[in-house]
Amino acid sequence: MKNKIGFVAIVTLIGLAVLSTRYYMVDVPVWHFFGGGSGLDPATLHLQGEFVESNLGAAAQGPAGSITVRMIAQQFVFVPQCVVVPAGVPVKFRITSADAVHMLSFLGTNYGLKAVPGEVTEATFTFPKAGEFKIPCHEFCGAGHYAMRGHLNVVPRDQFATLLPGERRTCEPR
Ligand code: CUA
Repeated sequence: MKNKIGFVAIVTLIGLAVLSTRYYMVDVPVWHFFGGGSGLDPATLHLQGEFVESNLGAAAQGPAGSITVRMIAQQFVFVPQCVVVPAGVPVKFRITSADAVHMLSFLGTNYGLKAVPGEVTEATFTFPKAGEFKIPCHEFCGAGHYAMRGHLNVVPRDQFATLLPGERRTCEPR
């Protein structure tokens, strides 16, 4: 009987040791278990729900045809890496992270968006003129942080209207 208690105690201790060293990995699931977050699972973002690959990038949404851009930030890229939006139109961004906290900043503007695992960050920005913006990550997120940057192409409104859904999803060179 004494042996059994000892065994259980040792297994429990080992379990706690493993948990404590993996704390940042269990953090998000535990958070969700207790009802926090929006129910987004960073591990399955690409597979189901709002942030599946086919739903990323810019899309017309709602009766007024307003534009919504969906993105995922992950070590060490943005998905998609290149986003195209119309000039002079309010664009709603919805972004989440597949891993660490990232910060998307539109170089040359005051606009920025934090990407947090398990959460959706939403903001609406208007880019008055056509142009190309670099979007570097401004939150230290690991070894590849300094190389983590996406691109935003702002195109004239009528040019945007002629784009096919696939061309709105990403402007990465093919
Ligand atoms: Cu992502 Cu720094």
